[in-house]
Amino acid sequence: MIPALLRPLAALAAASVDPEADVDALVPTNNPAHGDYQWNFAFRMAKARRENPRALAERLVPCFAGQPGVGKAEVAGPGFLNLHLDDVWLARTLVAQAADPQFGLVQSGAEKLAIIDFSSPNVAKRMHVGHMRSTHLGHVLSLMHRAAGWTVIGDNHIGDWGTPFGKLIVAWDHWRDQAAYDADPVGELERLYVLFGEKSAAKEGAGVHLADRARDETAKLQRGDPRNTALWEQFRRASLAEYETVYARMGVRFEEVLGESAYGGMTDEIVAALLAEGVAEASDGAVIVRLGDQVSVVRKKDGAATYTATDLACVRYRVQRWSPAKMVYVTDARQHQHFMTFFAVAARWNVAAELVHMGFGMLKLPDGTMSTRKGNVIRLVELLDEAVARARAIVDEKSGSLDEAERALIAEAVGVGAVRYQDLVQSPSTDITFDWDRMLAMDGNSAPYLLYSRARAASLLRKAAAAGYVPDLAALTLEHPKERELALCMLRFPEAVESALRATAPNLVAEATYRLCEAFNRFYYELPVLTGQERLASRLALTCVADRLIVRALRLLGLTPLDRM
Ligand code: ARG
Repeated sequence: MIPALLRPLAALAAASVDPEADVDALVPTNNPAHGDYQWNFAFRMAKARRENPRALAERLVPCFAGQPGVGKAEVAGPGFLNLHLDDVWLARTLVAQAADPQFGLVQSGAEKLAIIDFSSPNVAKRMHVGHMRSTHLGHVLSLMHRAAGWTVIGDNHIGDWGTPFGKLIVAWDHWRDQAAYDADPVGELERLYVLFGEKSAAKEGAGVHLADRARDETAKLQRGDPRNTALWEQFRRASLAEYETVYARMGVRFEEVLGESAYGGMTDEIVAALLAEGVAEASDGAVIVRLGDQVSVVRKKDGAATYTATDLACVRYRVQRWSPAKMVYVTDARQHQHFMTFFAVAARWNVAAELVHMGFGMLKLPDGTMSTRKGNVIRLVELLDEAVARARAIVDEKSGSLDEAERALIAEAVGVGAVRYQDLVQSPSTDITFDWDRMLAMDGNSAPYLLYSRARAASLLRKAAAAGYVPDLAALTLEHPKERELALCMLRFPEAVESALRATAPNLVAEATYRLCEAFNRFYYELPVLTGQERLASRLALTCVADRLIVRALRLLGLTPLDRM
């Protein structure tokens, strides 16, 4: 990504030698000796045109040199074009960025609506770590889209329909422990569900009988039988109440909670429409859609609608209700194949919205500590409590002088933030192993490190205020390399958010925030601010601008900025 300033210049320069030239070959550099941005496009061009790359790069220089914002344009080595931004322009741009609530982020989503389908746990089961990851990633995706001007509908597509309910009803009638249910409804429902699985596993006798009964109960529920509907509602309500405590704790809200049950009644009509429109065909008692050499089943032989049929009903509902430009589905990567086929069917069915599946890897728990009999199932509330308790121990040790209430507040922000950040920081597709030490480390790419960096900026600004200094952003100038390095990092932050949006990759925002905090810390350690003599006003302005951007970056990641740590 390059700043908006350079794009038109680069386009013009490219056009002067080749109208098809690739502006995106202009990239940020990490070594200031190579300028702030470098273009190696001359090499490719030169080859095609059988020209000397250096000579070609030299011809491009005048397109940049002397333009507002460009400090210096020069050719290096065999044909690199190095661009240095003008320091006055850079300082002015940062001040403007600080005044903009969206920190200069291009409003690419203005007038557009995105639906983020995330969290989506399955009723009567505990939310597992996969749903936690979906919750974190989906929440941050929503925040990122909003920052870029999108209207966002966060939709919790809970699994609240289908065969599990027939099984649960049968298990409820046979084996429920009412006291256990009253104490921990979801725990008891989960136990019943697992128990049903065990008892019905037998391929003969009682096992068959149970399976048949479950099928009947599911059918009754789907026909609207009052008792089964009441039980279903009760299970659903109890589960949502438990999820809600987790969401509240994590500051996550949904615009809509429409689970699979909302679409259950629509699937027959959808299948009929697919058949009538020639998208689907009957095949051996089932209804399928042919996709090249693949087949997607929308209705099974036994008449049951598939997961794909539900998602097709859902997509049609969303298109009619919201006309979204984009829909992002956040689930674990094992559902990738489902989404690829479903998207292909949707495209065949003329769904015009951009459909994106963000599939993420597994979060593995450290052995023993938090896993139950089912391995990956934990109570998320307990996990958050443990994170906060661990954070509290660190706060007590490091910040003993703060009062009780503030320490509790810090521990909550650090603990919950650490759990959340570990889900964001890795590239979504990689598997991650839960690691308390890394998550809560004060150094390295962790939530505590980011929060601490901000607290440090806030503390410096407090000290300045106490000493009677009033920050004046107009005083910002960039002279020292460390000031400039921080400035460039800030300039690049919105570029990183744009890339993250394009790639549906919140980890790019995490990475940019980490680099921003690192640059701020290097500036803070190496340069005196309040005792900086003639640089005081400018460095105070830089701190102020950096503080504002770090606060926004933290919020974008769903973290709670702290004034003190
Ligand atoms: N409930 C599903 C699960 O737990 C995720 C649903 C994702 N959203 C969708 N529209 N299919 O795996």
